[in-house]
Order: sequence, then C-alpha cells, then structure tokens
Amino acid sequence: MALSSSGPAREGWSSRTAFLLAAIGSAVGLGNLWRFPAEAGTNGGGAFVLFYIGCVVLIGLPILLSETLIGRHGQAAAPESFRRVAEQSQASPKWEWVAAFGVLSAFLILGFYCVVGGWVLYYIGLFASDIVQSGLGGGAFAGVSTESIEALFPALIGDGQLTVALGIAFLAITLFFVIRGVSGGIEIAATWLMPAFFVLLVGITVYGAFGGAFSETLAYLFTFEPEKLTGEVMLAAVGQAFFSLSLGVAGMVTYGAYVGRNVNLAGTSAIIAAADTSVALLAGLCIFPIVFAAGLAAGAGPGLMFVTLPHAFQDMPVGALIGFAFFIMVGFAALTSSVALMEVPTAWLMDNFRLTRMSASLSVAVGAGVLCVFSALSTGSLVDWHPLEAIPLFAGQGFFDVLDTFTAKLTMPIGALLTSIFIGWIAERRLVDSENGISGWLHQFYLLLVRWLCPLALAGILLLGIFPGWFE
Ligand code: PHE
Repeated sequence: MALSSSGPAREGWSSRTAFLLAAIGSAVGLGNLWRFPAEAGTNGGGAFVLFYIGCVVLIGLPILLSETLIGRHGQAAAPESFRRVAEQSQASPKWEWVAAFGVLSAFLILGFYCVVGGWVLYYIGLFASDIVQSGLGGGAFAGVSTESIEALFPALIGDGQLTVALGIAFLAITLFFVIRGVSGGIEIAATWLMPAFFVLLVGITVYGAFGGAFSETLAYLFTFEPEKLTGEVMLAAVGQAFFSLSLGVAGMVTYGAYVGRNVNLAGTSAIIAAADTSVALLAGLCIFPIVFAAGLAAGAGPGLMFVTLPHAFQDMPVGALIGFAFFIMVGFAALTSSVALMEVPTAWLMDNFRLTRMSASLSVAVGAGVLCVFSALSTGSLVDWHPLEAIPLFAGQGFFDVLDTFTAKLTMPIGALLTSIFIGWIAERRLVDSENGISGWLHQFYLLLVRWLCPLALAGILLLGIFPGWFE
C-alpha cells in the first residue's frame, strides 16, 4: 500500500489486477459503445477509424503512460502529483494547473455523460418491461413495427422531465460508488463486470456477423480514403481517442496514484489501450451491420447505438433477454467510467480543501446535477438554445453538444499536449526513466513520441481542426 509523503496513508488497490481492471473500467464506457460508432459514422468511416487507431498507438499510449507515471510518482490527487513531480525537477509548481484544468474537464464531461447514462437506464427498463409483458421466449418487441422502434429514441430525448430524472438517477448511482471509496466500490464493480461485458459483446458481434451486412461494414470501417481525412476529422479522431482512453483530464493521474511500485506502468498502459480499442472496434462491428442491413443512416449521430441495437434484439432468439443483459452491461461500463469522472474532482476537493470523501463527492454530484439538467433539456425544450453560437466550432450546438465538443475537441487535447510537454521537456529525466518501466530502444521511442510527436501533432491537429479555413 502506498503512502503519501505528507498526510495519512492513501487508499490503495488490492492488487495489480484490480488496478488494471479499474483503469480499463474507466476507459471502457460510453465512449467506446455510444460515442465511437457515432463519431465514426458522422466522420465518414474508414479514414476516421484508421487515423483513430494511429492516434491511440502513437499519441494516446505515450500520454497514458505519462499520466500514470506522474500519478504514481506523486502519490496524490492529480494537481498535487503534478506539483510534486515539478518541484522535484526544479520546475515551477504552476504546472499543477494542467491537472486543475483536467479536473475541470472531468467535471464538465460528467455533466453530459450522466445524461447518456440515463438513456441507458431507460433502455434497461424498456427491455425489462418487454420481458415482463411477453415472457423470456421470443425476440424483443414482438409485433412492434420497425418505425415504432426507431421512434423510441427521439421520443425519449424529447421528453425533458424523463431525461432529467434518468440523468440524475444515474448520477446518484455513481455517487453511491464514489462515496464507498476506491477499493470498496469501484473495484468490485470493475472486477466482475468488465470481463462479463466483454464476453457478451463478442457474442452479439459474432451473432450479427452471420446475419447482417458484415462485409459492407468491414469495407466501411477499414477502407482508407485519404481525401476524407480533413482537419476536422483528424481533430474528431484525436478527441475520441482521448475521450475513450480517459486522457487529458488527469483521470489516469488520479488512478496512477493508487498503483504500487511493483507494477510495470508501460505494460499496463499497453493492456489498457488494447482493451479499450478492441471494445470500440467491436462496438463498430456490432452496430454497423445493423445500420447497413436496415438501411439506416451511418451519420445519424448520438442516437446511432440506441436506434440500431433494438433492431438486432428484435430478430434474435431470446432477444428480449439478451437486449436486457446487454444494456445492463452497457450501464455498468458507463458506471465504472462515470465513477472515474466523479473521482477526479472529488479527489481534488479532498486533497486541496481537506474535505471528507462524503462532502467532496456530494459537492461534485450537485454541480454535475446542474449541468445534467441543462444537457438533458438541450435535446428537448432547450433545443434552440445555442450558447456559443458565435464561435464556429460550436455553431448550431445545444448545451449537451457544447460540453461534448468543448471537452473532446479542446480541453482534453490541450491537457494532453501540456502533459506531453511536461513529461518530455520539464520533468527530470531520471525520474521519468525510473518510473516508466521500459528500457532500450522502446524507451528512446517513448521519449521521441512524448517530446516531439505528441506535442507537434497535437498542436497541428488542434489548429487544423479549429481553424479549417486557414489551411485551404
Ligand atoms: N473513457 C470513458 C469512456 O469511454 C470516459 C471518460 C473520460 C472517463 C475521461 C474518465 C475520464 O466512456
């Protein structure tokens, strides 16, 4: 168990596996299942997907290693960990603001993540009531027309009271786990549910591969069409990579602080990235065959997962039960991520203001609850309210989309950019060398990536994505 250099003993993970599963639990969530297919669809498929994979390997992975490294070395909540590494490297303690910026991003993400979590709760309820009405035997929604199934999602997001209530309920469940603390709550959820979820997702994808438009899906997702790779698509792909790997919000710094010295951070980071990316690709392989077979629009956006999957469960044997199980698992994957999102600001409040876990997490939940109300209403009664209309990146976006774009396309890449500069150029080399768990050419390669590729590529992609007009 790790001790902090000042203050009481920190809670620790009970084992390396538990840390790994919790970190994977944080990474794998709605970002993989809901956001990845939606972004791949709106950004035209193959070019986005292949660039995304490149981003995960060349930018995401070194940043993931850098974040966990800072956390383990600092042994504290993210800003404090940044400060400790900075002080030890004779650098300005102001570097802690990188993490404070990340704490803000995590909080803002939680403000719309819980709304999507609420949608998942609704679908769990939908399948449960279907089972109650028509029994376990048949497919889901027996006798219901395709149009009516597709109409369920727009009806849900148009209903403000319902989406607000569901979003708040999802936040409350998250709060329950965060209050119980690291090993009490988060670990148990992650240890049991993540493996079960993976198996179910593989099963559904394999089933779908026999039934639907699988070869069309493969061509759509993996054909590289260079002309489609615009600045905006690149920014979307980088943003999605960070969102999915939980990077640039100092979340992995916070988790890294709970890791023992015996854990090899490089190997662990590679496993986290591989697991996360395979779930995203599986989600794509699971959802797009249904899109093509049913003649739906690939660029449908945020509703993609919720509109397509019920189709699959309608045709499957015991589909209602499988659909129910699937959405329960999606709910748990979302929960292990939202717990991480709430944990980041909570740990910060605890360390900075000496609050108890209870009052820190309650304050975060109340703040996120306010954001949740506006996000949930922005697909219904506030649909015409575009808070940042004057800025081109946010034109036409409601509150929900503004939070999403602001974090994935701005604050996460900027946070990651600063982290790479911090580790590549500011932090003492000996400290980095001794923490990262790699040596030889791999170590040189890591240094090359954090010092040069990550900052330059991120700066370039941010400029290209934010000011597309400049480069035409
Ligand atoms: N990675 C999570 C997901 O894919 C979201 C997340 C982002 C969680 C940042 C924690 C921190 O759903």
